[in-house]
Amino acid sequence: MVSRVIPVDSFDLVIFGGTGDLAKRKILPGLYRRFVSGQMNAVSRIIGAARADLNDASFRETVAGAIAEFGDKSLQDPAKIAEFLARIHYVPVDATGTNGWAQLAGHMRGGVVRAFYFSVAPNLFGDIAQRLHDHAIATPTSRIVVEKPFGRDLASARALNAVLAQHFTEDQIYRIDHYLGKETVQNLMAVRFANILFEPIWKAQYIDHVQITVAETVGVEGRGAYYDTSGAMRDMVQNHLMQLLCLIAMEPPYHFDPSAVRDEKLKVIRALRPVLPDEIVRGQYRASDVDEDYITHSENEGSRTESYIALKVHVANWRWQGTPFYLRTGKKLRARTSEIAITFKQPPHAIFDDVTGWNENVLVIRLQPNEGMTLSVMIKEPGPGGMRLMNVPLDMSFAEALGAAANDVPEAYERLIMDVIRGNQTLFMRGDEVEAAWAWTDPIINGWEARGDKPKQYDAGSSGPEDALMLMHRDGRRWREISL
Ligand code: NDP
Ligand code: BG6
Repeated sequence: MVSRVIPVDSFDLVIFGGTGDLAKRKILPGLYRRFVSGQMNAVSRIIGAARADLNDASFRETVAGAIAEFGDKSLQDPAKIAEFLARIHYVPVDATGTNGWAQLAGHMRGGVVRAFYFSVAPNLFGDIAQRLHDHAIATPTSRIVVEKPFGRDLASARALNAVLAQHFTEDQIYRIDHYLGKETVQNLMAVRFANILFEPIWKAQYIDHVQITVAETVGVEGRGAYYDTSGAMRDMVQNHLMQLLCLIAMEPPYHFDPSAVRDEKLKVIRALRPVLPDEIVRGQYRASDVDEDYITHSENEGSRTESYIALKVHVANWRWQGTPFYLRTGKKLRARTSEIAITFKQPPHAIFDDVTGWNENVLVIRLQPNEGMTLSVMIKEPGPGGMRLMNVPLDMSFAEALGAAANDVPEAYERLIMDVIRGNQTLFMRGDEVEAAWAWTDPIINGWEARGDKPKQYDAGSSGPEDALMLMHRDGRRWREISL
């Protein structure tokens, strides 16, 4: 199968923070891949903007370095890279001062899509929005792309929404949650809403529980200062895991368009029941033979920030009454694996006696690595000797099923940037969605802060704290193994 590449309109994309870590690791190598694929045409331009005193030539060196270090190893073609670099420009701009804005204004062209990527610290978002407006750089059809974190609580998210709303309408604002750009996350919607198979049983009557796991082997990796003021709840649950939960739990939208999809997700977030203290387990990794402890990595002696969290979450509506969603995410765990596992109930009446292994049907959607789906089903154990049953996986690896097309699957950031240029907001968070997510998150965090809870320790390289096992054991359930 060959993937279909549909070129986007010509654009000027200004990346504020074009010299930063995110731009170098994700945005610029991603854009290069889209250029190679033919999706970004040779008229489009990328303009880096930051305070550093660079020019087109020296920024192009930065971009070339980023492609070499973080780009796709199979796409290191000098001629293609040179062609791409010719589309790269740089304007020194100070987000909080006057420097560079007139020059940037003079650089913009008419007749192409204008997009501005705010890949800078969130406290600069307001300053940049203001200056884009004051210097008439942004037009009524321009788009802005806003990075995470979008606030650290409801009040700050509201304030940020209000600042952006002074100069941009909601349909110009693209709030990034890169999990929504992952191929399998979108496949989740295809699987649910393009097949008749699952929808009739997608409800509490047939689903025992749902597990959502995002396990990482990395630690805070040079982002300790940010992470230590955030923790797993703010960094991962409020956004990425919440979005996954929404896609599993939401009602079918009437159409796959931005308003319809986001309306349904919002309803799920608003239906989340407050989480009780004994439904939360927070953890922090300690030193093991795998690595040093979180305290050393975050350089904050006495830190109570969680590098792991597990939660039991209830969606209080008709569809999900009585079906818990267990969420867990953490750093320095034993394997990098992200998956959603939907465990179905057992048949209402058992007619077979000799059953080995688990006999539930489990649908596992693997987000990374090895994207794919597995459905475990009961079959007869082969051979003579009567009717014995066993549980086997029906496994579909997307890489195998899609063949060559799987190699040109865009990574999350590249897909999302192309959606910005296309003007498609379906995979971006709306302002009210972000606020609703914080409205649910705030009392949980405020609760453990008021109680003075300390995170439980777990060994770096393990599966997380023991208490997280208990969270499921006492419901007669167990977590799936964290393994590749
Ligand atoms: P960095 O600190 O690596 O880069 C910050 C960028 O902002 C630099 O290019 C810097 O250049 C520029 N900058 C700083 N101050 C100003 C200013 N006053 N005017 C203009 N430019 C300025 O940050 P990251 O790239 O890591 O993060 C950027 C954003 O992306 C943040 O919101 C972060 O939370 C988010 N993010 C980052 C992730 C990552 O993995 N890095 C992951 C998810 C989100 P200069 O100093 O030359 O001005
Ligand atoms: C980011 C978090 O949003 O997502 C990081 O800030 C985390 O802490 C990262 O490591 C995980 O993303 P991915 O795509 O590697 O699963």
